[in-house]
Amino acid sequence: MNLGNQRDLFEVPDGISYLNCAYMGPQLRETREIGERSAGRKSRPWEVTPADFFEDAEEVRGLFARLVGGDADGVALIPSVSYGMAVATANVPVGRGERVLILEDQFPSNVHPWRELTRQKGADLVVVPRPDDLDWTRAVLGQLDDRTAVVAVPNCHWTDGSLLDLAEIGHRAREAGAALVVDGIQSLGAHPLDVSEVRPDFLVASSYKWLLGPYGVGFMYVGEAYREGVPVEHNWINRRGSEDFSRLVEYRDDFQPGARRYDVGERSNFVLLPMAASALRRILDWGVPNVSETIGGLTDLVETEAGARGIEAIPGGRRARHMIGLKLGPEAPDDLAARLAAEGVFVSVRGESVRISPHLYNTERDVERLFAGLEKALRP
Ligand SMILES: Cc1ncc(COP(=O)(O)O)c(C=O)c1O
Repeated sequence: MNLGNQRDLFEVPDGISYLNCAYMGPQLRETREIGERSAGRKSRPWEVTPADFFEDAEEVRGLFARLVGGDADGVALIPSVSYGMAVATANVPVGRGERVLILEDQFPSNVHPWRELTRQKGADLVVVPRPDDLDWTRAVLGQLDDRTAVVAVPNCHWTDGSLLDLAEIGHRAREAGAALVVDGIQSLGAHPLDVSEVRPDFLVASSYKWLLGPYGVGFMYVGEAYREGVPVEHNWINRRGSEDFSRLVEYRDDFQPGARRYDVGERSNFVLLPMAASALRRILDWGVPNVSETIGGLTDLVETEAGARGIEAIPGGRRARHMIGLKLGPEAPDDLAARLAAEGVFVSVRGESVRISPHLYNTERDVERLFAGLEKALRP
């Protein structure tokens, strides 16, 4: 279902064509209001009860679980993608001479942890080159064999939205005995992902892009096989019985159930968690397939308009619907993003790709302004 334009729910002024949700999602009006109210709570700490340390966390855990079709027990609250990857690298078994697969030009938070791990273990980091036909799935499957210990990939490439079939990759990874670790920050909230189909071992996302939540709050869905693993830090609230504040010094070795053992310290963020929950509620209400379809109408228009001007674009069949990369070639000025910003048009330049990432506050008018801006910026 096309959700139509939802600009009234946001606070993007007229005159701003913000086509950069992949950089940072604008906050919903209602999310800001909840954040302002939540910020006031700490002025009255006597009203904050021990139960409050758990209730917001459990609510948001359940909302994220619904978003990915999983169980709340499988969700950990984390502050960033890199934190989730630290947990993943601390838990996946990787032996000497085994391989970890990543993509060319993958985001650093899902590269550095694997570089470090493979260095420590004497394993090989295999970078799957960007295929000319943009068929990442085939390219990854071509490298995935019994030597593979981990496939650490996104759902779509952060530079241009080019897509991977994670269900297929997950299936083949399981056959090869490899773990599947997914960075979902550039897809969750705008591209459907069901953990019962993909069966990731770790699926990580921060909320500040397509989940329209605050910066510094993220989620990690953990597959059944890894729910008894080792956290990267040891805090009090993740231990069994932490609800009883009077007995915290009866130090316990056992953990809260499921993936809660991986929750970051001070995860009970009284300001940010209610904000993240409000945005997740709105996204669940819209329905991710509907968000994807609605934004897809705009990226398809970008593709058509690019084609009419001879600009190369990632074709619809090879990309997620919420993002599109344009390849402008060497004649594009280095300060292209700044020139467009001067026209009120906001996009990102990532490597060779101009990344256009709209959301429900955008209209066809924004696409017109994008191309008017590009024409001006590219004029000799
Ligand atoms: C694909 C991808 N992963 C991760 C991040 C952010 O990583 P972190 O949460 O570690 O700051 C970004 C930010 O642009 C991204 O595009």
